[in-house]
Formats: sequence, C-alpha cells, structure tokens
Amino acid sequence: MLCISAKEFLFWKKKQLSKGGDYESFAVLLDCVGGIRTNDLNFIGLNPEGKLYLKKNLEFLESVWNDHLIKSCPIQYLCGTTFWRDLKLKVTNKVLIPRPETELIVDIVFNIFRKKSEKLFFAELGTGSGAISIALALAYPLSDGVATDIDQDALEIAIKNYINSSQQSNLKFYCGNWWSPLESYKGKLDLAISNPPYIPKDTYEKLPKEVKNFEPKVALLGGEDGLKHIREIINKAPLFLKKKGWLILENHFDQSEKVKQILIKNKFTSIETVKDLSGIGRFTIGRYK
Ligand SMILES: C[S@@+](CC[C@H](N)C(=O)[O-])C[C@H]1O[C@@H](n2cnc3c(N)ncnc32)[C@H](O)[C@@H]1O
Repeated sequence: MLCISAKEFLFWKKKQLSKGGDYESFAVLLDCVGGIRTNDLNFIGLNPEGKLYLKKNLEFLESVWNDHLIKSCPIQYLCGTTFWRDLKLKVTNKVLIPRPETELIVDIVFNIFRKKSEKLFFAELGTGSGAISIALALAYPLSDGVATDIDQDALEIAIKNYINSSQQSNLKFYCGNWWSPLESYKGKLDLAISNPPYIPKDTYEKLPKEVKNFEPKVALLGGEDGLKHIREIINKAPLFLKKKGWLILENHFDQSEKVKQILIKNKFTSIETVKDLSGIGRFTIGRYK
C-alpha cells in the first residue's frame, strides 16, 4: 500500500476529471484498481490534511484513466471488474458489462417469490457475466438454478464470478443456443429469466463507440427488428415452464407492446410491463397459463 496526502490526491483527482469522462467511471477505477471505496471518496474531501492508502500509484491510475479517455474503452474492461447490486464481478470483453437498469430484474423476482426460503427451480438464458443468476442463487439459497450462454468464454467468466461470490453449489452452467442445453428440464421450471440481445440492426450500427467497439456483438444484436431472440425464447418457453411458471424478459425501450403480443400469442397470462427507474417499459413478464 502507498501512503499519500489527501491534498495531493484531491489535486490529482481534479486534474483527471478535468480531462473528461464521468465520475462513475472514475469511481470504478479508484475502487477496483486504487483500492479506495466509493463511499470513502466523499470523506477524503472533508479531511484534506489527512492521509490515504492506495493499492497502485497515481501514475499507474492516470495511465489507465488516459487509456479509457483516448480509446473510449469502458473503464470496467480496463479494470477487469464491475459492481452490480452487491456483487463485485469480473468482466472481460467476452461479456456485456451488466447494466444498472438490469438490477431491477432481481427485484421483480423478489416481488413474485417473496419467501427467500422457497425452493425454486429457475433458468437464466444468456447469462453473460452471470450477474442475474448469481444474485438469485445467493438470494434463494434453497433454490436451484441453471444458467446458459451460447458463448463458452462468457460462461467461463460467469463460473469464476459464481465461485468468487458464493460458497454454494446451487447454480449450474450450460453452453448452447437458448433452451437447447435444457432439454432434460422440460416442464420443470418455476421461473425463466432473460436479458437477451434486443438491439435492432439499424440501431446497433449507430451505437456509441464505447459500446459498439468493445462489447460483444452477440450480446447486443437482436436481428433486423431486435426481437429475433425474444421470439425464440418465448415460443419455446411453454415447453420448459411448469404450469403457472413465470417468464421475465428485459427488452428495448420501445418493445414492450410487441413483446406483450408475442406472449399473448403463446398463451401466456398475467402479462405485465414493468418500468425501470426512468419510467421506461424495460421488462415484460407473464405466466404460462
Ligand atoms: C444482453 S447480454 C445479457 C448478459 C447478462 N445476462 C446481463 O444481463 O448482463 C445477452 C447474452 O446472451 C448471450 N446469447 C446471445 N445469443 C445467444 C443464444 N442464441 N443462445 C444463448 N445465449 C445467447 C450472449 O452471449 C450474452 O451473454
């Protein structure tokens, strides 16, 4: 650990932020690489005469920050880490950086299944870094979960994240196209969740470069209209869900009505759009009969 004065640190911090970038990314850098917790950052300004301890020196932190600004590479990939709900997750460019708005998907599950002692059997399709499945496996310790992804490299990150976050063994990982690795679980799921790739092709082409140049295309692109994967997931869900089992999907900001219609066509009931914190109909949920 390197000891520096708070005054020197505050001067350096001001200089870095004046170059550009956002405060949240800077806080991720300081926490993941520098070892300064975001909560502690606020206190440093209150005591400029004090001292603080860093895991890496200011020159090193500055070089990572410059890299982020020059290449527009997400800071989470440069640091190899992100924070999501109360998890600290490893991320590489093989997985989507889990978004803050997706955190709500876990709260939707909490609202449906209120007892944490429930013995659920859940599946997450397209787990990426494993964020959603790991949060659920930890929250419902008596449950069993299965998490799938088409990309073996992504699954390896998810497995590492599960091992790092949990002492449990209630989550299994499978590689394959949507439902296909889950053939042996037909009719057994209480709940299936997915945040699939849902960006329409023309929108994908215009994504900001920090997303398009760095995050995996397979995690973002949802075909011509963005609904290719959502259709496939919904069409086959009735084979895998128990009677009255729930399907919870994240969708693009303007897709909830279309997703609702696909669910109706597939005989789902209790269909509802759930808004995110910005009031966008971000999630569509339903039960199979
Ligand atoms: C939007 S990302 C979501 C990742 C993670 N669940 C999250 O919320 O941060 C979509 C994930 O679906 C996976 N995926 C894409 N196509 C797939 C397919 N055909 N079958 C299974 N998984 C797929 C991608 O590799 C990616 O990890």
